[in-house]
Amino acid sequence: MSPEEFRRLGYQLIDFIAEYRAGLEAQPVMSRVQPGAIKALFPPTPPAQATGFEGVQEDLEALFPGLTHWQSPNFFAWFPSNAPLSSVLADLVATGLGQTGITWQASPALTEVEEVMTDWLRQMFGLPEYFQGVIQDTASTGTLVALLTAREWATEHSQDRGGLQAEARPLTVYVSDQAHSSVPKAALLAGFGRENLHLIETDQDHAMRLDALEAAIQRDLAEGRKPCAVVAAVGTTNTTAIDPVRPIAELCQRYGLWLHVDAAMAGAAMILPECRSLWDGIEHADSIVINPHKWLGVAFDCSLYYVREPEHLIRAMSTNPSYLHSAADGRVKNYKDWGIPLGRRFRALKIWFTLRDQGVEGLQARLRRDIANARWLEAQVRQTPGWELLAPVPLQTVCVRYNPGHLTPEQLDRHTQDWVTRINQSGRAFLTPAQLKGRWMVRVSIGAESTERSHVEALWNLMQQEAQKVQIER
Ligand SMILES: Cc1ncc(COP(=O)(O)O)c(C=O)c1O
Repeated sequence: MSPEEFRRLGYQLIDFIAEYRAGLEAQPVMSRVQPGAIKALFPPTPPAQATGFEGVQEDLEALFPGLTHWQSPNFFAWFPSNAPLSSVLADLVATGLGQTGITWQASPALTEVEEVMTDWLRQMFGLPEYFQGVIQDTASTGTLVALLTAREWATEHSQDRGGLQAEARPLTVYVSDQAHSSVPKAALLAGFGRENLHLIETDQDHAMRLDALEAAIQRDLAEGRKPCAVVAAVGTTNTTAIDPVRPIAELCQRYGLWLHVDAAMAGAAMILPECRSLWDGIEHADSIVINPHKWLGVAFDCSLYYVREPEHLIRAMSTNPSYLHSAADGRVKNYKDWGIPLGRRFRALKIWFTLRDQGVEGLQARLRRDIANARWLEAQVRQTPGWELLAPVPLQTVCVRYNPGHLTPEQLDRHTQDWVTRINQSGRAFLTPAQLKGRWMVRVSIGAESTERSHVEALWNLMQQEAQKVQIER
């Protein structure tokens, strides 16, 4: 494709995206295609000759039934994954410039814009200056990197204290029983072993219980294992429960453990000074992951990973082949030493464009709007007979159930799943059912960029109508 052809087709496709976004509200939110329906649109073998782009828009439109519309104002499922159009343009530019950041020298602009953006965001989150950041693809990767680093650190730490003998002890990791699935997965991938991963009980607010954490650490010490790392959640996936960071950090200091904080979803809220008490003690974390690609509004993928002492990360991740040397080494950051992949995309442009478009104050206003909408819904649920709130609402997720009062727990589970399925199948809104401590509930996750109070009001009416309609046979 020549630059001229790119210009012509590019303008058309930008129009195409703009029209898609402008018409989103009218689209059924959840894709209702049957498995295989989209694959069936394609011939079984690749084209031997170029087919060109004639008719490409129609071909793309044929995929639409297979899209779940995350950017719809009626999207209340899993978590907001906002992709503001400014950020979409940045992604286009990033790819258009064709940069591959394997070292500073490979693209000084890519590296240095990333340094500036991770530092701007550090300031926005109110983190101390000693935290340094890097962009990873996802929080799953960030947490894996954290646990790999913690292993390396614990091993080195042991050598300082007692020599190789200490390294032979199995290393253990502690996470709450509400941790995101990526956390146990990271512990297993990092080689800790299933038997050395402890799921710590949570309290009535679904936050990690300190007494249970300390008891598990002491048990491991008594039985000859070496406690290595705690992963605390600031905003669990199910309910946005907040593990108590400061006392957990104190325990980590007392027993010599690495503290990683998973604030993938809720970290965005820390751009609001009034929310920062939720992660009180964060200055003691060894590593933190926050996803701008969720509620904050930088298009997927863009996950921030901050570390308090980068030398531990670099020791675990660095490589030094001769073909990657440059005269600038020693004076610059080589982000290849800050994570798993060698190559990196120019993701920092998305952060820059989002900030140019909305500014810190624009982002703060949107998050405050979403929190106020969640509070409004919480108040409706509280004051409406039959409706139950299943968790505190510190931010933008409201966990609910409708209990007609005469059902067994199993019938109530079926009732809950039925009414949420009816809503999702209607296309008018999309919500996620989930199990909380063994029973089904519905999560209303508010925070799509285009969701206003009117959409939340319409959702609440729909929830009440559909929950009343469902009849469960006794
Ligand atoms: C608390 C938490 N941690 C981690 C993740 C995983 O995020 P990612 O898709 O960036 O790996 C999620 C995603 O929902 C999450 O809510």
